[in-house]
Amino acid sequence: VSDQMKRWFQGHELAAKLYHHVLTVSDEGREAREYLRKRGFTKEMIDKFQIGYAPNSWDFLSSFLDKRSFSAEEMSECGLLGLRDFDNKPYDRFRGRIMFPIWDRRGNMIAFGGRVISDGHPKYLNSPESEVFNKSDVLYFFHKARSVMRKKNEAVLFEGYVDVISAWRAGIENGVASLGTALTESQAKMIRRNADKIILCYDSDNAGLNATYKNAQILESIGAQVVIGKLPEGDDPHDYIQRHGADQFVHEVISQHITFMAFKFDYFRRGKNLQHEGDRLNYIDQILKEISQLNRAIERDYYLRQLAEEFSLSLEALKQEQSTLLQAQQ
Ligand code: CTP
Ligand code: MN
Ligand code: MN
Ligand code: MN
Ligand code: MN
Repeated sequence: VSDQMKRWFQGHELAAKLYHHVLTVSDEGREAREYLRKRGFTKEMIDKFQIGYAPNSWDFLSSFLDKRSFSAEEMSECGLLGLRDFDNKPYDRFRGRIMFPIWDRRGNMIAFGGRVISDGHPKYLNSPESEVFNKSDVLYFFHKARSVMRKKNEAVLFEGYVDVISAWRAGIENGVASLGTALTESQAKMIRRNADKIILCYDSDNAGLNATYKNAQILESIGAQVVIGKLPEGDDPHDYIQRHGADQFVHEVISQHITFMAFKFDYFRRGKNLQHEGDRLNYIDQILKEISQLNRAIERDYYLRQLAEEFSLSLEALKQEQSTLLQAQQ
């Protein structure tokens, strides 16, 4: 780690302290405090995750850093400040946002995610990519979750910061987030190197369910045992915990996770009306394809029987259909 990098980390640390102070004690932070309180954030969560608030000002952070001899040029190189195009004057990128510090795998603070209070666009604004912040290499909270992952040989993967924080409060300390639904190979490997089993717990909306299907395959392809923490339609982990409580989340969603194949049985039903013959046959074909990709014969047998039973089909017919499908694929 170069001296320059250390300066960048220090700039972020300093900014986080300032934002945290604004959120927790200042007048300017009152609305944000109230918003977080309503959403169930406790003081413990706000402290543990060093959450803060950036006031709605163009020069709050920039003038503060300047006074502490962190030059605008230096702090713009790491994305902490912006520089105006026409005169190179520094300005605050984050204004009127709740601030979530983001750390690298060693625990250096390298970026922020800023959320608007209530509604507004974009909902989240992240620091731009920089020499220290490579979004595709970062998993939120990995620096803390890693040791627990290793110990339990199990990791939980969420979509959002807020989900990681809520789950942590519910006692789940091996949770990380991919900063959205995209999961890169590098992020997948970071998790995989520390745990054999990965519980995917994304939002139960279109984006989250599509990403679950995609990312579970990525994780399986590097040898992870993937299971799914299934939420009621429309919920995300934080919403669920707010509505049903931490205990229910741990017991009904995390502990009662379902297999990836069981997830697919539900996933391919979406948008189909199984009363209609066309949709039904289409569904059966999709599931048959998925079953044939399973590695173990007993698993294939188990799910074939399940499919046969559900649609009152003979195993014979399903096996025949399956081999026809497989031939067509080759
Ligand atoms: N995200 C982002 N930019 C956006 C929306 C989302 O970078 N405009 C990323 C953030 O990392 C966010 C994650 O995607 O944490 C999940 O997005 P979403 O489900 O929309 O947000 P929540 O985590 O549910 O946030 P909240 O509960 O505060 O609405
Ligand atoms: Mn989402
Ligand atoms: Mn969400
Ligand atoms: Mn949410
Ligand atoms: Mn619910």
